Amino acid sequence: MSAHDRGHVERVTRLARYIATREGADVGVVTAAAELHDLARGEPDHARKSAERARKILRARGRPEEFIEQVVHCIEAHSFSKGVEPRTLEAKVLSDADKLDAMGAIGVARAFLYSGEIGRSLEETLRHFEEKLLALRDSLHTETARELARERHRFLEEFYRRLREELGGITRST
Ligand code: NI
Repeated sequence: MSAHDRGHVERVTRLARYIATREGADVGVVTAAAELHDLARGEPDHARKSAERARKILRARGRPEEFIEQVVHCIEAHSFSKGVEPRTLEAKVLSDADKLDAMGAIGVARAFLYSGEIGRSLEETLRHFEEKLLALRDSLHTETARELARERHRFLEEFYRRLREELGGITRST
């Protein structure tokens, strides 16, 4: 298991389809985009590379060019750390779904799995909470995602606060 495995893609697809339905987005576009959004995960500029690969796959499947370009834009714009701003509702939905999977208990679990993969310490992981995870709530695009994020954000905050407290306690006693 890794922080960006098949499970992540399945959860993001489920979340994205739910949000798309509630927000009136094109569920077909959102589903294809979610399923193909992390094809190049782990490579530099993964959003753009995943989008390129998705384009090839969808062309090979004979999907209409207009559909393909919609999916490609969603994938290019999904990464929350850099790059392309989501212009369409479908792109906003995928971006929101991907962020939600970095929040709540899953977000905590994935953050530490990733830390294990790259050898990041607990303190460095807390910094990742401050810089990225705790800010995700404020960068969501849709009302449905903001609703889903409420509990998840609260849990992130609580976990962050407790871990910082307990790490602080260890430092004080030594
Ligand atoms: Ni993702």
